[in-house]
Amino acid sequence: MLSADRPLFETHGLGVEYVARTASGTVTGLADIDIQWNKGEILGLLGGSGSGKTTLGRTLVGLQQPTTGDVTYQGQPLSRALAARSFRRDVQMIFQDPYQSLNPRRTVGQQVTEGLDIHRIGTPGLERTALAVAALEQSGLTPADRYWHCHPHQLSGGQRQRVVIAAALALGPQALVCDEPVSALDVSVRSQVLQVLKQLRSDHGIGLLFITHDVGLAWALCDRLAVLHQGQLVECGATEAVLKDPQASYTRALLAAMPRPLRHG
Ligand SMILES: Nc1ncnc2c1ncn2[C@@H]1O[C@H](COP(=O)(O)OP(=O)(O)OP(=O)(O)O)[C@@H](O)[C@H]1O
Ligand SMILES: [Mg+2]
Repeated sequence: MLSADRPLFETHGLGVEYVARTASGTVTGLADIDIQWNKGEILGLLGGSGSGKTTLGRTLVGLQQPTTGDVTYQGQPLSRALAARSFRRDVQMIFQDPYQSLNPRRTVGQQVTEGLDIHRIGTPGLERTALAVAALEQSGLTPADRYWHCHPHQLSGGQRQRVVIAAALALGPQALVCDEPVSALDVSVRSQVLQVLKQLRSDHGIGLLFITHDVGLAWALCDRLAVLHQGQLVECGATEAVLKDPQASYTRALLAAMPRPLRHG
């Protein structure tokens, strides 16, 4: 298979056990997960609290070590992919709380150009500034010079999340793992930030792993859905198929818990 045809990520029998003060000494984060996330695809990871969504996202970006099973990135073992400098540029994670990613002491301009400096993208000075400005504007911070000298505390939550998205976008990624990226935001700005995320795929072909506990958001954004429950993959398929004709009782329960007007079918 050509690398262009290979899935971004694939897992086989992936398991993560955490060391914990329980009778068995461990807590299962994930058990026996087989999943495929394709290039340019928005794959939703849907499930309740503690279902293993963050654990899966962190494992794919290399922040969490698998206990069992295999993970591949574009056909090569994740351990080998992680050793390449380009992985940190290609695959990035966006967290629920943008403060987790931003440095409170550095300006927006400094933070978006920092990654370009680290990865030596473009020439220092004007070219890197132009790339950062373009990324900020594509993330909806227009005109970029209005935000360039701001520190994170001078921005709203939605604007901070846009800065995080811009810093990721500036590096030309293949894949973004977005862990509840709009859950902490005011409802009024959620749909705008979701629109920016959608455009990352339509304009740049970037694949998104969209982690959410919100069925409505999954429906609005995702091509396919993987439903997790207690560390297990209970269902995976095209979003419409999963939500209109759920096979797993857990997915049916998630749908039944939604407010009536949002339900489909
Ligand atoms: N560092 C850790 N040490 C021990 N157990 C952990 C750790 N991180 C997660 N877990 C456990 O692993 C399981 C999966 O957690 P995870 O955070 O991946 O779930 P989640 O679906 O992201 O939940 P939420 O929706 O609350 O963010 C849970 O039982 C959790 O308590
Ligand atoms: Mg989580």
